Amino acid sequence: MATTLITGGTVVSATGRGAADVLIDGERIVALLEPGSTVLGANLTETVDRVIDATGKYVIPGGIDAHTHMSMPFGGTTAADTFETGTRAAAWGGTTTIIDFAVQKFGERVQDSLQTWHDMAAGECAIDYSFHQIIGDVNDESLRAMRELPGEGISSFKLFMAYPGVFYSDDAQILRAMQTGADTGLLTMMHAENGPAIDVLVGQLLAQGKTDPYYHGIARAWELEEEATHRAIMLAKLTGAPLYVVHVSAKQAVAQLATARDRGQNVFGETCPQYLYLSLEDQLGAPGFEGAKWVCSTPLRSKHDHHQDEAWQALRTNDLQMVSTDHCPFCMKGQKDMGIGDFSKIPNGIGSVEHRMDLMYQGVVDGKISLERWVEITATTPARMFGLYGRKGVLAPGAEADVVIYDPNGHTSIGVDATHHMNMDHSAWEGYEIDGHVDTVLSRGKVVVDDNTYLGRKGDGRFVRRDPCQYLI
Ligand code: URP
Ligand code: ZN
Ligand code: ZN
Repeated sequence: MATTLITGGTVVSATGRGAADVLIDGERIVALLEPGSTVLGANLTETVDRVIDATGKYVIPGGIDAHTHMSMPFGGTTAADTFETGTRAAAWGGTTTIIDFAVQKFGERVQDSLQTWHDMAAGECAIDYSFHQIIGDVNDESLRAMRELPGEGISSFKLFMAYPGVFYSDDAQILRAMQTGADTGLLTMMHAENGPAIDVLVGQLLAQGKTDPYYHGIARAWELEEEATHRAIMLAKLTGAPLYVVHVSAKQAVAQLATARDRGQNVFGETCPQYLYLSLEDQLGAPGFEGAKWVCSTPLRSKHDHHQDEAWQALRTNDLQMVSTDHCPFCMKGQKDMGIGDFSKIPNGIGSVEHRMDLMYQGVVDGKISLERWVEITATTPARMFGLYGRKGVLAPGAEADVVIYDPNGHTSIGVDATHHMNMDHSAWEGYEIDGHVDTVLSRGKVVVDDNTYLGRKGDGRFVRRDPCQYLI
C-alpha cells in the first residue's frame, strides 16, 4: 500500500482550520500531524512513497454532490452526461462522491430500477457513487420494496409533488410513502412544487402564445413551491418522517423550512448554485430561445424579489443545510431545442457537477460564507445527511482519503472551451471567473486530478453503501 504525505497546507474542516500534514496509507487517512513531524528521528517526508506539497493551499475533504442525474431519461430524452463523463467532470471540479437517483418508472418494480442504475454505473465511474431511490409509482408493492432499501445500502428516497403523469405522487401516496420511510429509517426527499396547478398555468400561458423559456418560470410560481413545501412539511410532521426538500429556490419555501425547524421538526433543505447566482430575468429571460439553457425545476427566481440573497443568507444561518447541483444536463442541439415554440417541451435541467466546489468557494471570496461553512455545505453535511460521515466528508484518521488541494491564489475560468469537461454543448456558467482553483484531487488515496491533468480512469469509483441519516435533530 502506497503512503502519501500532504505537507504544508492549511487543513480546513467544518469546524476550523489549521496547519497540518495529512498522512495517507493506501485508501485511508491515518493521521493529521504537526507540520514537519518526525518518526523515530526521521523526517516523514523521507519515509513515505509520495509527498504532495500543499504550501499556501487549502486541504479539504473531497466534495459530495448529493443530487445528480447521470443518463436520466427525462422530458423525452436522456441527460447528456453518462456515469463515465459526469463523474470525470465531477473529479475535475473537486467532487469525489456523487449520490445519483435510481428512477422507478410508473409500473416498474423498485428492485428492477435499482438494478438498472447499478448496471449503468458499475465500472464506469471516476469517483465513488451511491444512489437515492426515486419512487415514481407508490403502491403496495413499491412500499414493500422500500423496506428492502436499507439492506441495499440505500437510506433515502425521493418523491415528486410535480410532473403529473410522470413521477407525480398525490397526497395519499406521499402519506403512505412517508409512513413507510419513517418506519424503515429512510430519509424522505421531496421535489416540492404543486404539479397539477403548474400544469393548468402552463396550458393557459401556451394558449396565450407565451411560449418562450421565460414562461417556464412564470408557470412554476413561487406560491406553488411554498404551498408544496408547507404541505410536505405537514405530512412529514404527521407521519414523523424526516424530510429533506431538494432544490429549494423560493425564499418563501426557505421560510417554511425555517419555521418547521424552529419548532424542532427534522426538516432540511438543499439549494443549488443556480439559485444563488442566476435569475429569472437575466438567464431564463435571455433573448430568443437562449433562456432554454437555464430551464430547470424548481425554476430560477426573480432577482427583484431577492431570492438569491435570501438563499445565501439561509446558508449562513443553517436554514438551508447544504448545496448540491441537481446536475441534469441537456444539450441545446437535439435536446433543449425540442421546446422551441413550447417551453413545456424543454427538458428540465442544468449541468453544474464540475463547478459546485468553485462556485461555492467564490461565495467565500465574496464574503457570503466562511471557509469552514464552504466545507460544511459541500462535503461534511452531505456526508452526515446521507449516512457517509466518518468515511467521507471529513479529514480524520480512519476516513477514506478523498482529499482536495485547493489553491486560493489560483484562478478558474468557466466555459465550454475553458475548463468544461461535462458532456454539454453549452455551459450554464459560461464566463464565470473563480478566484481559486482545484489543484489536486485524491479519490481514496489515488491522485485522479493534478496540475490540470486527469490521471484517473473509469472504474476507479465504486458503489458506496450508506447508513441512515446522521443529521437528525
Ligand atoms: O430540472 C430539474 N430539476 N431536473 C432534474 C429532475 C429533478 O426534478 O430533480
Ligand atoms: Zn426534482
Ligand atoms: Zn434532481
